[in-house]
Amino acid sequence: MIFKELGNTGLKVSEIGIGTEFLFGESKKTAIDVILCAITNKINYIDILFTVQNYLEKLAAAIKGYKNQLVITGHIGTKDNKGRPQKTRDIEECKKSFLKMLDILDIDNIDILNIQFVTPKESEKIFGTGGLLDLALSFQNEGKARFIGISTHDTSIAIKAAKSGKVDTIMFPINLANHYLAGRDELLTTCLKKRIGLIAIKPFAGGKLLMRNQTVYIAKYQTGGIKLKKKIPREITPIQCINYVNSLPGVSVILTGVKNVEELNENLKYLTQQENNQDFSSLIEFFRNNTN
Ligand SMILES: NC(=O)c1ccc[n+]([C@@H]2O[C@H](COP(=O)([O-])OP(=O)(O)OC[C@H]3O[C@@H](n4cnc5c(N)ncnc54)[C@H](OP(=O)(O)O)[C@@H]3O)[C@@H](O)[C@H]2O)c1
Repeated sequence: MIFKELGNTGLKVSEIGIGTEFLFGESKKTAIDVILCAITNKINYIDILFTVQNYLEKLAAAIKGYKNQLVITGHIGTKDNKGRPQKTRDIEECKKSFLKMLDILDIDNIDILNIQFVTPKESEKIFGTGGLLDLALSFQNEGKARFIGISTHDTSIAIKAAKSGKVDTIMFPINLANHYLAGRDELLTTCLKKRIGLIAIKPFAGGKLLMRNQTVYIAKYQTGGIKLKKKIPREITPIQCINYVNSLPGVSVILTGVKNVEELNENLKYLTQQENNQDFSSLIEFFRNNTN
């Protein structure tokens, strides 16, 4: 496993991390097995997306005893609505949800506190006085968060945040299907120049890129702005998807989501098969062209 600097934070993160969105509906045993398999394979970056009790309890059991060797991202921006995540921008609700998350995970602080799903409409409020950024800063001042980040599906917001000096990390979808997304290159170079930790989410476009031989709709949120309908080529592999994102300067960590240990083990094959599959040009062109 290769470890990279996470921007200016001083943290060293494994070049691939574990996203837990798709563990939401899985059993506690599966969550534990996936996280243990990740740790065994030297993955040290874990993303904990929601503040829903049942989901957090599974992950608490999975990370128990490993907190010191992990870089954990926790999010503000959703609350627990009867066992389902629900988006909220209410400061008190976000505050309560974050404190509950620390409590359930049984940890004193989170490494990266991420403000979720920042949209152009909301950004002024989020970054303005008394907004979610101020809430995140207050947690940082109290020692409950070490660094602060945002996630967004909008390049202009991501670039603005990277230039602002207000955040340490940015989560943005990066995959073969958005190679030509307007602003993506500027985001990569800005993060590199400003030493912002760029966390590439959705390397498989939420799993769509791996639905081989099937015609799929890839939504804007899975690419950061491009909508596609495509019959996915039979030859595409998780290794190609990971190697492609890994080839981009500016990316600190690739957050791969998995549903089970089998998927994780398949994805980890990129570690031993790096030499192959390094020519992505035909896939990039295939996804550039929005016809079947
Ligand atoms: N902060 C935010 O706003 C935000 C937003 C989105 C995501 N995230 C984080 O980023 C992580 C990564 O994004 P993501 O999980 O949406 O996208 P992703 O990594 O592009 O796709 C994950 C999905 O791909 C499929 N998959 C993975 N490995 C596979 C394999 N070997 N074979 C077949 N299918 C495979 C699985 O779904 P199936 O098995 O169902 O096909 C899996 O759940 C999330 O888990 C989450 O932690 C954060």
